[in-house]
Amino acid sequence: MTALADQKNEPRKAGKNALLIFWMGLIFVFVAGFLIFFYIPPAADIGAAQPIAFSHRVHAGIKNIQCQFCHSYVGRSSFPGIPPVEKCLYCHKYVIANHPEIQKEHMYFNTKTPTPWKKVFYLPEHVFFNHQRHIKKDIACQECHGPVETMDRLKGKKFKMGFCITCHKARGANLDCWLACHN
Ligand code: HEC
Ligand code: HEC
Ligand code: HEC
Ligand code: HEC
Repeated sequence: MTALADQKNEPRKAGKNALLIFWMGLIFVFVAGFLIFFYIPPAADIGAAQPIAFSHRVHAGIKNIQCQFCHSYVGRSSFPGIPPVEKCLYCHKYVIANHPEIQKEHMYFNTKTPTPWKKVFYLPEHVFFNHQRHIKKDIACQECHGPVETMDRLKGKKFKMGFCITCHKARGANLDCWLACHN
C-alpha cells in the first residue's frame, strides 16, 4: 500500500524539482542580464567624472560642433584651451537653460570660478609638445586623442615616448627627440 503511494508520488516530486530549477535558472538569467546591461559596461569603460556632465558625444558628435570652436587655440598656441563657461552660455542661455547641469555653468560664471575640469591626457613631465606643428600637418585630433566625438566622458591616457616615436618614424618627422621634445 505505502509502496504504491510512493511510486505514485515519484513523478510529481520530479516535476516539482524541475519547476524549481526552471525558476531558479530564469531568475539567475535575469539577475545576470541586469548586471551586465546596467552595471558592468559603464564601470569598466568610462572616463573620469567631470564637474559638469559635459558630453563630447552630444556636442562634437550629434550636434557636430567643430573641435576648434571650443578648443580655439589648438592651432595657434601650445595650449589648446578648455572653453570658459562664457562659451558654454553663448548657447546655453537659450538651449536647455533650466537643465540642472546648465545651472552649474551659471554658478561658475556668477562666482567667477574657473570650472575645475579634470585633466585626462598626460605627458611625462619635461616632455615638450606643441599642437601647432601637428595640426599644420593635418594630423586629425583623433589620431592622438581617439574617437572623442563618440565619448560622453573622455577616456584619457598618459602618452609614452613610443607613441610619439612610432608616428615620427612613419611620417619622417624629427626623430632626434631628445633634442626636439625634451627641455
Ligand atoms: C554651439 C552651441 C553649444 C555650446 C557652445 C555648448 N553646448 Fe551644450 N548643448 C548644446 C546642444 C544643442 C545640446 C543638446 C540640447 C538638447 O538635448 O536638447 C547641449 C547639451 C548639453 C548638456 C545636456 C546634457 C547632455 O549631455 O545631453 C550639457 C550638460 C551641456 N550641453 C553642457 C555644455 C557645456 C559645459 C558647454 C561648454 C563647455 C557647452 N555645453 C557648450 C549646444 C551647445
Ligand atoms: C562645446 C565645446 C567642445 C567641443 C565642440 C569639443 N570640446 Fe573638447 N573639451 C570641452 C570641455 C568643456 C572639456 C573639459 C571637460 C572634459 O574633459 O570632458 C574638453 C576636453 C577635451 C580634451 C581633454 C583635455 C584634457 O586632457 O583634459 C580633449 C583631448 C578634447 N576636449 C578634444 C576635443 C576634440 C578632438 C573635439 C572635436 C572632435 C572636441 N574636443 C570638441 C569642450 C569641447
Ligand atoms: C600628435 C598628437 C596630437 C594631436 C594630433 C592632437 N593632440 Fe591634443 N594633445 C596631445 C598631447 C600629447 C596632449 C597633452 C599635452 C600636455 O599635457 O601638455 C594634448 C592635450 C590636449 C588638450 C588638453 C590641453 C590642456 O590644457 O590640458 C586638448 C583640449 C586637446 N589636446 C585638444 C586637441 C584638439 C582639439 C586636436 C585637433 C584639432 C588635438 N588636440 C590634436 C596630442 C595631440
Ligand atoms: C600621428 C603622428 C604624430 C604623433 C603621434 C606625434 N607627432 Fe610630433 N610630429 C609629427 C609630424 C608629421 C611632425 C612634423 C611637423 C613639421 O614638419 O612641421 C611632428 C613634429 C614634432 C615636433 C617638432 C620637431 C621639429 O622639427 O622641431 C615636436 C617637438 C614633436 N613633433 C613632438 C611630439 C611629441 C612629444 C609627441 C608625443 C606626445 C608627438 N610629437 C607625437 C607627427 C606626430
